[in-house]
Amino acid sequence: MLAVEVAKVLNEPADVAKAVRGGVRVEASWREVMQLNLHIRLAQRVLVQLADQPYHVEDDIYEAANDVAWEAWFTPRETLRVDITAQHSPLKSLNFAALRVKDGVVDRLRSTCGTRPDIDTSHPHVRVHVHLDATHVTLYIDTSGEPLFKRGWREDKGDAPLKETLAAAMIAATGWDARTMPLYDPCCGSGTVAIEAAQIACNIPSGLQRRFGFSNLLPFQSHVWDGLLDQAHAGVISGPSASGEILVFGSDVSHRMVDFADRNAHRAGVTHALHLRGGDALQRTPPTEAMGILLLNPPYGERIAAAGVAGERAADRAEGRSDGRRQPNRHADRQQEHVWREAAQVDGGEDSGEGDAFFDRLATHWKQHFGGWQAWLLTPDMKLPGKMRMKASRRVPMWNGPIECRLFRFDLTAMGKRHGE
Ligand SMILES: C[S@@+](CC[C@H](N)C(=O)[O-])C[C@H]1O[C@@H](n2cnc3c(N)ncnc32)[C@H](O)[C@@H]1O
Repeated sequence: MLAVEVAKVLNEPADVAKAVRGGVRVEASWREVMQLNLHIRLAQRVLVQLADQPYHVEDDIYEAANDVAWEAWFTPRETLRVDITAQHSPLKSLNFAALRVKDGVVDRLRSTCGTRPDIDTSHPHVRVHVHLDATHVTLYIDTSGEPLFKRGWREDKGDAPLKETLAAAMIAATGWDARTMPLYDPCCGSGTVAIEAAQIACNIPSGLQRRFGFSNLLPFQSHVWDGLLDQAHAGVISGPSASGEILVFGSDVSHRMVDFADRNAHRAGVTHALHLRGGDALQRTPPTEAMGILLLNPPYGERIAAAGVAGERAADRAEGRSDGRRQPNRHADRQQEHVWREAAQVDGGEDSGEGDAFFDRLATHWKQHFGGWQAWLLTPDMKLPGKMRMKASRRVPMWNGPIECRLFRFDLTAMGKRHGE
């Protein structure tokens, strides 16, 4: 998916980018490096490779770092941070290896420029990345700075927000057509999926609201960057989508979350392009007459338990009531979420009866009201199709941070009449 996106951003043939360990490799000009940073939605960083050579011991790594012409990339006035990753490296201490790279860079700048840069691990101007495999050390300069999932618009976060890059990968996996097809996240939380989708519908580049590390590097030319920004602004669709209709929808049972999503959408410049509202996914009917895509990472486990009708039943059980009577002041979202989470813990988390009941009821609700839609759910729960009593037509492996997930696709067969809102 990433290779395809890179080729699209660069307007090159599909095979221009090659998949490599943890990413893709492409030959690009400096202007294209900036273009990638501005537009790419699926990548975490854009790195420029500066060295790749064999090593045996730490001193070889020092030499590799010392041989790079860092003086062509940044001055000693910039602060520096070195990050290291490794796979099958024979070296005992990665920290020590990173230290040797730092020494190599600093010594090089001292000998060519007369002074050395300071180290700043929290807010560095320049980041150098090192990768060690069993035989080779590879050095990169980072042109992104803060990782690219930080788009600059999400200040309000829910309890388990998705990274924007993962939301973008989910959208890409569905093959959503942003010009014509409705996309609806009925458990939208802080709105990550819906806002990414709305930006795609409006052709707003992922990086339009943020700064990049490349502006601290010597090859940076502000007039080239300004030209790219002008081009990007000119390409933004002023309406909600190419068809002029709102195609993106989000809702959440927690009004606090909908509030967060609203504020994030405002910062992302897409309030006109999506429709957000409160409501229980077990009760919400399709937001449009046209059929489209349901795309969500639903509540799961102890941290984010299902709320709404299903949650109330779980809370009732946790509090020892079997008559289904509700507490009078369950309206405050915070309080509600707290009670439901406790309920989920009492129930034993993700495999709780109520958790399963939520998905069973969700499937029934969707079959009744969303016939003809595709539902795509991201979850770490491999048993989800069984809980929904539906057969997944696709299972796309994805990682939510360190958690292995599947993006399941269900084709909802039309049953009865659908109700527009
Ligand atoms: C895993 S979070 C989604 C996070 C979201 N993708 C984001 O990036 O912020 C699950 C969301 O489902 C919501 N939720 C729980 N039960 C629900 C229900 N019955 N109907 C609608 N939303 C529900 C929670 O309030 C929470 O925001």
